[in-house]
Amino acid sequence: MLFRNETRPASDFDPDNLPYYNPEIDRRVCFITGGNSGIGFYTVLHLYIHGFIIYVGGRSKQKTESAFREIRNQAKIRRGKLTLRQLDQQYLGDLKFVHLDLLDLKSVCNAVVQFKTREKYLNLLVHNAGIMAVPYSKTKDDFEIQLQTNYISPFLITDRLVNLMEHPDVKDPRIVYVSSIGHRFAVLPINLGFDFPYKPNILFTFLRYGHAKTAGIHMAKTIAKRHPTILSVSVHPGFVMNTNLFSHFTRLPFIGTLFWIFFQLFGFFFGVSNEEGSYSTLKCGVSNDLNRDEDNGKYFATFGVETTPSRIAEKDQYSLDDWGWTVSELQRRGFQITN
Ligand SMILES: NC(=O)c1ccc[n+]([C@@H]2O[C@H](COP(=O)([O-])OP(=O)(O)OC[C@H]3O[C@@H](n4cnc5c(N)ncnc54)[C@H](OP(=O)(O)O)[C@@H]3O)[C@@H](O)[C@H]2O)c1
Repeated sequence: MLFRNETRPASDFDPDNLPYYNPEIDRRVCFITGGNSGIGFYTVLHLYIHGFIIYVGGRSKQKTESAFREIRNQAKIRRGKLTLRQLDQQYLGDLKFVHLDLLDLKSVCNAVVQFKTREKYLNLLVHNAGIMAVPYSKTKDDFEIQLQTNYISPFLITDRLVNLMEHPDVKDPRIVYVSSIGHRFAVLPINLGFDFPYKPNILFTFLRYGHAKTAGIHMAKTIAKRHPTILSVSVHPGFVMNTNLFSHFTRLPFIGTLFWIFFQLFGFFFGVSNEEGSYSTLKCGVSNDLNRDEDNGKYFATFGVETTPSRIAEKDQYSLDDWGWTVSELQRRGFQITN
């Protein structure tokens, strides 16, 4: 069945088995987008519990700091259940906010500059932030809104940060791009400049999402080839129905409640919890089960189970086409791409 491996595969993944780092001895730095809600919240929680220094790029300082309070609280509760011996071997990291609005490429560049003034290297880059199902519109940078949020801005962030990951002293550098099973909505290998500006939204919005998330898989694959010292992969987190990703539909007047009921039922049968949704990112970002010689460029589904992406996502020529298009479109807008 098409979706079998991507929804609820059997898995023995347990984040408690991931390595724990002591920031005083082995300081691991992570930059993650969209860590204030949904899947990103739990990704940040587990990275924090495992000793990472985490920079969360978000557009609301207030929301992100409120998430930090909740994360610190959750970490305290979970650590309260550990034995003294376990506590002695597990260290908390640190949480830091960076202002970042993916809908504005200047904000993306500023966020990177802010990060670079504070850190000299980067171990883990997680492109988690994303939007789905929103109506067609263009950003101030003149990209379709889902394309820029889910792909163009992550591309620019990667270009600007990749050199901080390539220094030989940087331990185990990794990039995780959070794609989606929805990348399969991209049924034709269409130039990314073609952005389906049509109605009804309920149909074409998913084509736009699919193309953006396919382009993200292409990016992860191409980075793996161009920067082989970095492990670069993409993931599908699972169907995680209680995040804010579906809010465009659930907030619609009158029929929003029906959508909400439908999503809850769907989640009950096929979904995973918000926390389980973070497992594929955590496995790919931290687990010693993966390494760059064997896993670079791969795609992993729910719980981090290796899976084959769509035919379009897999094809190298389409990855190169997307790369070339993106570099030229960014340069046309004044953003030089150097890597
Ligand atoms: N939930 C699922 O079933 C599912 C399935 C497949 C893939 N995914 C992917 O998983 C990722 C996380 O989604 P989620 O389900 O956890 O949804 P979510 O709760 O809506 O989280 C999305 C995150 O992205 C941030 N974000 C959105 N637009 C942004 C912008 N312009 N600038 C900066 N940050 C922005 C949001 O920040 P704000 O709070 O400021 O909006 C939020 O932190 C997404 O990439 C999504 O496509 C989810």
